[in-house]
Amino acid sequence: SVAVKKSPNFNERKSFKRPRPSWTHSNDDERRRKTPLRANGPLQNGNGYHKSPPTVLSSTGSRNKAEQISSSVPSSSIASSKSSPLQEQRSKLPIAKGKDALIQEFLEHDVTVLLGETGSGKTTQVPQYLLESGLARDGMIAVTQPRRVAATSLASRVAAEQNVTLGTSVGYSVRFDERFSPQTRIKYMTDGMIVRELMSDPLLSKYSVIIVDEAHERSLRTDILIANLKTIQRQRNGSQDVKGKGKNKVNATNPLKIIIMSATLDAEKFGRFFSGAKILYVQGRQHPVKIYHSSQGQVDYVDAAMRTFFQIHTDYPPGDVLIFLPGQEDIESLEKTIQIYVNQLPQDRMSVLICPMYAAQAAGQNSKVFVAPPANTRKCILATNIAETSITIPGVKYVIDTGKCKEKRYLARNTGGGFDTLLTRDITQSSAMQRAGRAGREGAGHCFRLYTVEAFKAMPLSAEPEIMRCSLSSSLLQLKCIGQDLETFELMDQPAEESMKSSLIVLYLLGALSLEKEITALGRQMAAFPLEPIYGRAIVASKEHGCTQEVLDIVSVLSASSKLFVESSEQREAVSEARRKFRHVCGDHLTILNVVRAYQEIARAEGKGNRKEWCRRHFLNERALLEASDIRDQLRQTCERVGIDHGVSCGDKDDPVIFSLGHGLVMNIAFLQPDGTYKQTIGQSIVKIHPSSVLCDKKIPAIVYDELVYTNQIYARGVSRIPKSFIVTLGALKQQS
Ligand code: CDP
Ligand code: MG
Repeated sequence: SVAVKKSPNFNERKSFKRPRPSWTHSNDDERRRKTPLRANGPLQNGNGYHKSPPTVLSSTGSRNKAEQISSSVPSSSIASSKSSPLQEQRSKLPIAKGKDALIQEFLEHDVTVLLGETGSGKTTQVPQYLLESGLARDGMIAVTQPRRVAATSLASRVAAEQNVTLGTSVGYSVRFDERFSPQTRIKYMTDGMIVRELMSDPLLSKYSVIIVDEAHERSLRTDILIANLKTIQRQRNGSQDVKGKGKNKVNATNPLKIIIMSATLDAEKFGRFFSGAKILYVQGRQHPVKIYHSSQGQVDYVDAAMRTFFQIHTDYPPGDVLIFLPGQEDIESLEKTIQIYVNQLPQDRMSVLICPMYAAQAAGQNSKVFVAPPANTRKCILATNIAETSITIPGVKYVIDTGKCKEKRYLARNTGGGFDTLLTRDITQSSAMQRAGRAGREGAGHCFRLYTVEAFKAMPLSAEPEIMRCSLSSSLLQLKCIGQDLETFELMDQPAEESMKSSLIVLYLLGALSLEKEITALGRQMAAFPLEPIYGRAIVASKEHGCTQEVLDIVSVLSASSKLFVESSEQREAVSEARRKFRHVCGDHLTILNVVRAYQEIARAEGKGNRKEWCRRHFLNERALLEASDIRDQLRQTCERVGIDHGVSCGDKDDPVIFSLGHGLVMNIAFLQPDGTYKQTIGQSIVKIHPSSVLCDKKIPAIVYDELVYTNQIYARGVSRIPKSFIVTLGALKQQS
């Protein structure tokens, strides 16, 4: 999306083709410099910084007041026995000074809220302190994360610090990927995984400590977990609320400790929710960060980020640059343009090492961001908001903040039939502060904001909790399985009535709930799959239609984190030519199936190298296929558990596959209209077929699709044709009547 114009000449300072963004230093710049980013109070004043120097909050232990873990408490020497570089790094983290005091507090309180600046050592150290102090002798320590990359990457860091192999005493568990064993004591996991564990172990009895990390993000699953933890703790720690007496006795021997950790300081809400929680504050180490705003808004933030990067590279001393971008597409496009210019840098210039970092990367692929770059090299890290608070990258001195992020949002339609979509939107003031803070971890730094001061002031203070803006059907179904009702559940924030209603309708149409909102046998089967209910439903339906093998192949590819088809705007012709043989008249789902089958053929017949080459030639992402094969193995296990024979195939027949998918995608059906657009059968949206679809320029009487994406208009993505006659049997027109 960024047009590469003539390359800038780096021998001259002012040689950029277009004007660089010009920077304004607002009047209070001096004050900013003197008052480093210290997030030690609620975000009150407009720019998010405190006028007065940070105060050490009193230690009365009352709610809403944070108590500082001070360095006056002698710390036990973590590094005394083993003094490897890693142990030395551990002992130098801000949190290390408070180790003993922290352990004491954890011992005395059932619920602790721990606040601390990003990078102070909360996520990596607290679980190890608990382990080393023997506080979690009787069970595992779970550390939850909203993002899977954070869970896997932090687990491998902590395994290294413990000097053990990942998967032994330190492990992780994220959807479709886990590494732990019976020895595992510290388990990093996504909040989604632990919520799923509730279905098989409603008291989470395997864990003696549950650390809810990144709680400030208020992800949907974190909120649901927190709500459950409150009741679980009441039961396990044996309060009068417990009904079954025998149970009470057993459980009292297995008490639960809860630690909520957050990078921002709005802890009041957590404190209120767990009345009596102890709030603690870890003083971080934050150097001054000088903030620059662009004097005008930037229309093309990717291009502006590129120019700003080279401005830093030519004009500023060594130090790594961290660029915040909303998503993978922007990261890939910026990586390309920066690389083109880097290749033209004069020989005597410092070289540049580009490190992209986003969720869909393969495990381990982003490990180079943690390694110091070679001599005379500047690292340029291109990251999504994963680098905002969950992962701290050493060496960063400059931050470029595009001011954008991607947010999942449920677009409700007044007639029902809304959908979740990822929208690029402006960040919040709280995020902007966190991003700037990344520049000041190891010394004074600079943050370049590609937006104006006015734009900053117009940003909301903090983000709306996910529960108030996302589709709830998956969580609702899971909770129904354990007899909980999201509608009457005590949550930190209640979801919007509209999205609640719409999720209930979806589950009813899928057959997961009865009219009385009771979970059905079908609903239980669907919930057993670690998938959105729509795909759980498709798999269950495939039993009836005798095509489980085919549906599993397709659903596995759709569930992989990387995309199967590599897009290339430069080679559009070549791409379409290379993929022609996979195209299926029925649409994208069977096209995917053709690819999977062709790949399996190649894999059987040829070596690994050829497989790779085959993928490259056809512009296919082999990683997606490998990932899909792992996912399929796991879905097969679930099939076995719920009594579905995954070996059943329909051979060359197409209809059974489409029918099965149709059962799941019953909300996602649209009919052709005279003007060539499509109208939803449930909901009133007018949609078009996405340009990436093999059916893009076709006129199909009725389509079924995976999802809607919203750009300048609404597109259906992942589209197949579906016989109109079949739709009647689905009952997809129910709601219209
Ligand atoms: O959770 P919090 O933000 O307080 O800090 P943390 O994630 O525990 O990180 C503590 C330190 O470990 C930071 O200085 C990171 O740079 C470092 N770290 C690292 O060097 N490599 C990793 N893979 C993870 C963390
Ligand atoms: Mg952390």
